[in-house]
Amino acid sequence: MLASIEQNLNEQINVEFYSAYLYLAMGSYFESEGLRGFANWMRSQFEEEVAHAMKLYHYIVDRGGTVTLTAIAAPPTKWESPVSIFLQAYEHEKEVTQSINKIVDLTIKESDHATHHFLQWFIGEQIEEESSANTIYQQLVLSGTDKAALFFLDRELGQRTAGQT
Ligand code: FEO
Repeated sequence: MLASIEQNLNEQINVEFYSAYLYLAMGSYFESEGLRGFANWMRSQFEEEVAHAMKLYHYIVDRGGTVTLTAIAAPPTKWESPVSIFLQAYEHEKEVTQSINKIVDLTIKESDHATHHFLQWFIGEQIEEESSANTIYQQLVLSGTDKAALFFLDRELGQRTAGQT
């Protein structure tokens, strides 16, 4: 495995673990606000992000590379509102997509067909990741200050288990 590809995949492991950490922090905000359904959604998202990191981990190992784990940055601890959280989640996922795309570009430049193939799963996953965060963001914008709509959405998000968007 090329050193530059290995380094980028290792950096992506960090991006995924940071994502996990960010969603866990967002979940703890929802716990403290009494919105257990939103908190459940965020915990499922946390688990998915750990699974993304581990997918990269196993791929590096399978290709004879070396996994190098680095420090995970601290996520924010305070937010203004549920809507600001989901806007940030949506913006975050767009950044993750850019990060994946950057590695895909590198695999094309370096003719690394195996890693190019491997990353196609992440490209598909990022479409879902952006869409699910944006959908909930839009629903929160539409519900505005309507508490009944917020509790309805909280109940709906409480149904999510890891692996579902
Ligand atoms: Fe692993 Fe939410 O991207």
